[in-house]
Amino acid sequence: MFSMPRVTRIGVFTSGGDSPGMNAAIRAVVRTAINEGMDVFGIYRGYEGMIDGQIEQMERHSVSNIIQRGGTILKSARSKRFMTYEGRLQAYQSLEKFKINGLVAIGGNGTFTGAQQFEKEFNIPVVGLPGTIDNDLYGTDFTIGFDTASNTVVQAADKIRDTATSHDRLFFIEVMGRDAGYLALWSGVAAGAEFILVPETKTYIDNITRLLKHDMRKNKTSGIVIVAEGDDMGGAYDIARQVKERLPEIDARVTVLGHVQRGGSPTVQDRILASWTGFEAVHALIEGKSSVMVGIEDKKITFTSFEDAINKKKNFNFGGLELARILAL
Ligand code: F6P
Repeated sequence: MFSMPRVTRIGVFTSGGDSPGMNAAIRAVVRTAINEGMDVFGIYRGYEGMIDGQIEQMERHSVSNIIQRGGTILKSARSKRFMTYEGRLQAYQSLEKFKINGLVAIGGNGTFTGAQQFEKEFNIPVVGLPGTIDNDLYGTDFTIGFDTASNTVVQAADKIRDTATSHDRLFFIEVMGRDAGYLALWSGVAAGAEFILVPETKTYIDNITRLLKHDMRKNKTSGIVIVAEGDDMGGAYDIARQVKERLPEIDARVTVLGHVQRGGSPTVQDRILASWTGFEAVHALIEGKSSVMVGIEDKKITFTSFEDAINKKKNFNFGGLELARILAL
């Protein structure tokens, strides 16, 4: 006797901060599901739209011409209402109307925290895709959007380097990363930054000024400091001010890159990561998996429980900070 697969009607949504490659992930989920004979529905504005029933059936053509586009055609939001039981119950009732019996959640920590709770309470299987520029999820080497954001930072830093050199200035460039310094580290090494300041390590301003003096003695007249917004000594403006107090002779400038890092056409790496994990997410639901995030580690597909993806600390390459410093001398 054949048993009916549990999941036949999938809902897909993007939630939390958007990231380049989310559209490629939506495309992969929609087309894989249709290819498997399933019905697939787009849920708009993340958990907010799930609560409000902003749900539409998607066809193959609904995801035409989006693989190259940044942002998310399904839109995204952070939902306070979904943090309450009433909100989640309403979301469940919306899904029931469309007979949706499986979900693919594309997002980061907050998205998976909500998904885990929802699955426990309403027994709807959820598989996650890592969509965030922060790359702070355990269980995947990279998250969807991180590579594009790193390239955006490096392109900006290269341009800033031109003017920094012309004017003999020290630039403090603030990049995103409220709690994580992966974007700062990766882009800082690639941009040849003199210093990289991240939340994962304690920042000592005196140490920076001592090394800057050393650089000046070696006739270095300009430089770049990449500051993750969540650094323990503050953002780029705070750090620049503290350095300036100790070294008034330095001509310092600050650039905050902000949300420019969240947009743009996804790189090849992000498109492939999104397409491959999106495909695997649908198959995972068919196989009965739930409350897991699909990732890629060492070029192999991995499934990590939401519990671990959210709570375990991903390996941070502290050596990269030292590497940047040595190579910048
Ligand atoms: O996407 C993650 C992230 O970029 C964090 O690094 C940043 O602090 C946050 O989102 C800001 O997002 P928003 O402006 O959407 O609140």
